[in-house]
Amino acid sequence: MKTQVGIIGAGPAGLILAQLLHLQGIDSVILERKSRNNIEGTVKAGILEQTTIDILREIGVGDRMDREGHFHNGNYFQFNGQRRHIDLIKYSGGKQVVVYPQHEVIIDLVNARYENGKDIIFDVEDVTLHDIDSKQPKIRYRKNGLDEELVCDFIAGCDGYHGPSRHAIPEQNRKEHVHFYQFGWLGILSDSAPAADELIYANHDQGFALLSTRTPILQRHYLQVDPFDGIANWSDDRIWSELTARTKTNDGWQVPDGPINSKGIFQMRSFVCETMQYGRLFIAGDAAHTVPPTGAKGLNLAATDVKVMACGIMEFYEQGITDILDRYSEICLRRVWGAERFSYFMTKLLHMNPHLDSFERGVQLAELDYFTSSEAGLKMIAENYVGLPIQWEKAGDLKTLLK
Ligand code: PHB
Repeated sequence: MKTQVGIIGAGPAGLILAQLLHLQGIDSVILERKSRNNIEGTVKAGILEQTTIDILREIGVGDRMDREGHFHNGNYFQFNGQRRHIDLIKYSGGKQVVVYPQHEVIIDLVNARYENGKDIIFDVEDVTLHDIDSKQPKIRYRKNGLDEELVCDFIAGCDGYHGPSRHAIPEQNRKEHVHFYQFGWLGILSDSAPAADELIYANHDQGFALLSTRTPILQRHYLQVDPFDGIANWSDDRIWSELTARTKTNDGWQVPDGPINSKGIFQMRSFVCETMQYGRLFIAGDAAHTVPPTGAKGLNLAATDVKVMACGIMEFYEQGITDILDRYSEICLRRVWGAERFSYFMTKLLHMNPHLDSFERGVQLAELDYFTSSEAGLKMIAENYVGLPIQWEKAGDLKTLLK
C-alpha cells in the first residue's frame, strides 16, 4: 500500500492532521492500535484553548463543539478559603476556552474522516518504522494476522508517549527531558450539579482540588493524592469529604455532591523530546511531549504541532521546498517549552508539597495572592491559559499558511 502521509495513531494529533491534509488534497492513511470504541470512549481531559477552537472550526469539525461545549470566559483560583476570579477574556485580549471533552473531539474527527470517504485502520499490531532517513519511509504492521507494509512520503508519529515512533529516532539524535512530581490526581465523574459557572482551581493545606464540568448533570472533579495510593482506599464518602474540605469557602459555600460513577488515580509527568523530527519522520502530541494536566494543555499542544506539520507538508507538495519542515521541531518546541513552563508553574503554584517548610508555604500563598491580584500576574496566567501563539521569526511564508 502507498500513501503520501502515513499517520501512526488516531488520537487528536493524528486525526486533526489527517483532516488538515485532506482539505489540501493530500492523501493519508491512519493506523491505530486500539479499536474505534476504545478511542471514542476513553475519558480524558476536557479544555480546548482558543488556538484549538480556531483549528477545529477551520477544518470543519467545530459545529458540535460550538453547540454543546461550555464556553468559559474565565476561571477561579481559590486559596485561604477565598475565591478569586481570573477574567481570561479581559486579560488575554478577547480569547476564551471551551469545556469539550477529548473523546467528543475524537468522535467528531472520526465522523469527518468517514464523511470524507477515507478509512482508519484500527486494531493494528507490531507497528515498526523503516527507512525514515530515505525518501520512501515505510511502516510495517500486522492486521488480522497478516503482515502489511505502507510506503509513504512522510511519516507522522502521533502514537502517544508509549508508541514506537519516537524510539525510531536514533538515540544519539534525541534528548529526552523528564520530570516527575510527587503528586497524583484522583479523577471522578459524578451525577451532581455544576459547582460553578467556571472551573475552580483550589489550593488547600490538605492538597489541591479542581472542580470541572461535563454537562449540567455530570461533573468532572479532581483531588491531589499520593500517586502510588490505591483507588480502593478512596470510598465515595472520603472523596466527597476531601473535595468539600478543600473547596469550601469562608462564606459557607460547599460543592454539590452526588453518586460517583467512575474514579481513577494517575501520576503526573512532564516530558519533552528534543528533536521532534528525523529524516522523513515528524512526531507530534504526546509522542513528543507530555504535560501535567494542571495547565490544561495536552490536546492543545497536539493540535498546534500538527498544524505546523500540515503547513510544512503543504509547502513541500505545493512549492517543492522544505523550509517549514526543516524547522518543524524548532517551531513546535518553542511553543511546547512555553506550555511546559506554564504547566509546571501551575502545578507548583496550586499543589501542596508535603516537603515544603512553613517559609516556602508562605511564599506559595504570596504567589497565589500576587498572580490573582496584580494586572501583570493576571495577564501572565490568562495569556498562557488560553494558549500562546505559534511563533516563528521568519514568518513570511508561515503567516499566509498559518491563518
Ligand atoms: C477536565 O475537565 O478534565 C480538566 C479541566 C482543567 C484541567 C484539567 C482537566 O486543568
